[in-house]
Amino acid sequence: MSRVKDTSLAASGRLKIDWARDHMPVLRKIQARFERELPFQGITVAMCMHLEMKTAVLGQALMAGGGTVAITGSNPLSTQDDVAAALAESGAHVYAWRGVNPQEHHENLLRVLGHNPKLIIDDGGELSVAVHTEQQQLIPGMIGACEETTTGVHRYRAMEKAGLLKYPVIAVNDTRTKFLFDSQHGTGQSALEGVMRATNMLIAGKTVVVAGFGWVGRGIALRAKGLGARVVVTEVEPVRALEAVMEGCSVMPMKEAARIGDIFITATGCKGIITSEHFEEMKDGAVLANSGHFDVEVDVKELRRLAVSSRVARMNVEEFKMRNGRRLYLLAEGRLVNLGAADGHPAEVMDMTFADQALCAEHLVKNKGKLAPRVHGVPPEIDRSTATLWLETHNIGIDHSTAEQLQYLNSWQ
Ligand SMILES: NC(=O)c1ccc[n+]([C@@H]2O[C@H](COP(=O)([O-])OP(=O)(O)OC[C@H]3O[C@@H](n4cnc5c(N)ncnc54)[C@H](O)[C@@H]3O)[C@@H](O)[C@H]2O)c1
Repeated sequence: MSRVKDTSLAASGRLKIDWARDHMPVLRKIQARFERELPFQGITVAMCMHLEMKTAVLGQALMAGGGTVAITGSNPLSTQDDVAAALAESGAHVYAWRGVNPQEHHENLLRVLGHNPKLIIDDGGELSVAVHTEQQQLIPGMIGACEETTTGVHRYRAMEKAGLLKYPVIAVNDTRTKFLFDSQHGTGQSALEGVMRATNMLIAGKTVVVAGFGWVGRGIALRAKGLGARVVVTEVEPVRALEAVMEGCSVMPMKEAARIGDIFITATGCKGIITSEHFEEMKDGAVLANSGHFDVEVDVKELRRLAVSSRVARMNVEEFKMRNGRRLYLLAEGRLVNLGAADGHPAEVMDMTFADQALCAEHLVKNKGKLAPRVHGVPPEIDRSTATLWLETHNIGIDHSTAEQLQYLNSWQ
């Protein structure tokens, strides 16, 4: 059973999924093993993720491992309707279409949970928040959950701290083969791609303001620099601000950056980063985009209140005319620009993240009943195996320490 926009779009979605799978050799290898070993036999996996081609490859790998997949999108603009149709055609229960409103999104979460899942793969913690607040009858049967993003990990840790978390969760986001590549290089490239596709603007010579110099922010800042932008970073954490300085970025408070920026990209995971005091300072033509998980970083409500008029200027671009004639351009409604206005991360990095997801889901099943109901790190052997498989499938060899070298490294004399 599925609810998608248009089942006749499946052919186009199949092509996209095939393209992604071709660029995801690690997940293909894992899928081949899953087909033999069927680790998810009899298990329904609930997924709330950006429903685009790479996610479909992960869903199909879990189904190949014997699982049943029920899935919804984790952002109203990131669902690609053709991919959703193709994934449904291949046997998943899909409840997603581009442009869902908040009520539809919530109904879709409940539809997914209606399949009585034993495993969850979350991107933002939404399925587990719904389980803990509205669907507690699912808790006794739940093996555990995997979380994809920083904001979701924050939410799960807050649940654990409050003593409310009822099953084990693996913070897939926090492992090296995820954040070093997906968050940094994946978002770095795809967020700028989103800005470029939406606006067709030249980045060279522009002042690009990046809010937050975490894994996502540094990826965006350094890619923007590589494209010839002057990069300004805003931060609240002194060491990260220092890192930005050493990478050649200017660092200043947002109030100052607001006056000089041509393009603003938020990547903090926090709310209220660009607000009315900043809109008032911005130049005519300034572009506003967000790459943090939720649409809380640019205060869109306030922007609407301050503007005298607004219109759709281009696909994924809304123009706001301010009282003094200045125009500000908001991309993808202030939601994740890389998924709302582009195709998200390249498949090569999602190959690592989703290999981690698939292996962590398998780890939860293999350790059913043995893991405490708290947030766990990714087992180091999974991180290592994902990196090793990626190098192998790209024909990249590395050296191996000799016994003598290992002894040297472990000695003190
Ligand atoms: N767009 C995507 O595809 C994608 C991919 C990965 C992560 N994310 C999301 O991006 C966000 C950031 O993730 P991350 O892994 O870089 O997190 P992170 O914790 O590594 O970095 C966030 C940075 O923002 C800074 N910050 C916090 N409040 C700030 C403020 N008021 N002003 C300026 N800086 C501030 C923090 O000090 C920190 O350095 C999260 O919401 C995460 O879920 C999005």
